[in-house]
Amino acid sequence: MHVSEAVARRKSVRQFTDEPVDDAVLRDLVERAARAPSGGNVQPWRIYVLNGDAMARFRAFIADRPHEPPEYDIYPPSLWEPYRTNRFTVGEQMYATIGVERDDKAGRLAQFAKNDEFFGAPAALFCFVDRRMGPPQWSDLGMYLQTFMLLAQEAGLDTCPQEYWTVRHGAVQEFVGAPEHEMLFCGVAIGRVDDDAPINSLVSERMPLEEWATFL
Ligand SMILES: Cc1cc2nc3c(=O)[nH]c(=O)nc-3n(C[C@H](O)[C@H](O)[C@H](O)COP(=O)(O)O)c2cc1C
Repeated sequence: MHVSEAVARRKSVRQFTDEPVDDAVLRDLVERAARAPSGGNVQPWRIYVLNGDAMARFRAFIADRPHEPPEYDIYPPSLWEPYRTNRFTVGEQMYATIGVERDDKAGRLAQFAKNDEFFGAPAALFCFVDRRMGPPQWSDLGMYLQTFMLLAQEAGLDTCPQEYWTVRHGAVQEFVGAPEHEMLFCGVAIGRVDDDAPINSLVSERMPLEEWATFL
């Protein structure tokens, strides 16, 4: 698979089949994704992998744990334009795929709650970064994530990155055994897309090039 195809095909999948993910394949992807660049080659990502038995244990562990206040602001408060509209639009388009109306709070919450099940994915990553690191190293973590997700595409695996897990950060930290100086950034659900699931028909839009790029 060419890089261009992996980039075009990758999308956030929100309903997976239960087809298992091979441990060796997952290990290989996690390792090769670390070819991602990082400032000063500090490689600040810290990755915890769930699959098979570990995933089953995690699901049992998390089931009765309460939500926690997020450890970081997922978005700045009172998001402004054009970001506000971008965020709103993708949310509306996502709920439209499953016929959930704007005032259907229960329907929206039920879909949101599926984050907790990794959308049915059989495998997942939790990505941490040392709390003492700053924005440049958080950006490095993003490099790792996208490299991982593109390699997963090449291996026939789909993904969904999930900041959602910050509302479970303490429980996740405890389960994976991450030291206190590490901070959870996100989870990544990993498996195979359920093409029959309406929610996976969502194709998120991008702003026109002229609105965010300047060619001098
Ligand atoms: C770091 C990060 C965290 C995200 N967290 C969530 C999440 O918690 N739940 C979710 O459904 N989607 C999440 N997303 C997916 C975004 O909504 C998605 O990337 C965006 O709408 C663009 O769609 P696409 O990934 O299909 O291209 C996250 C994406 C990123 C990059």
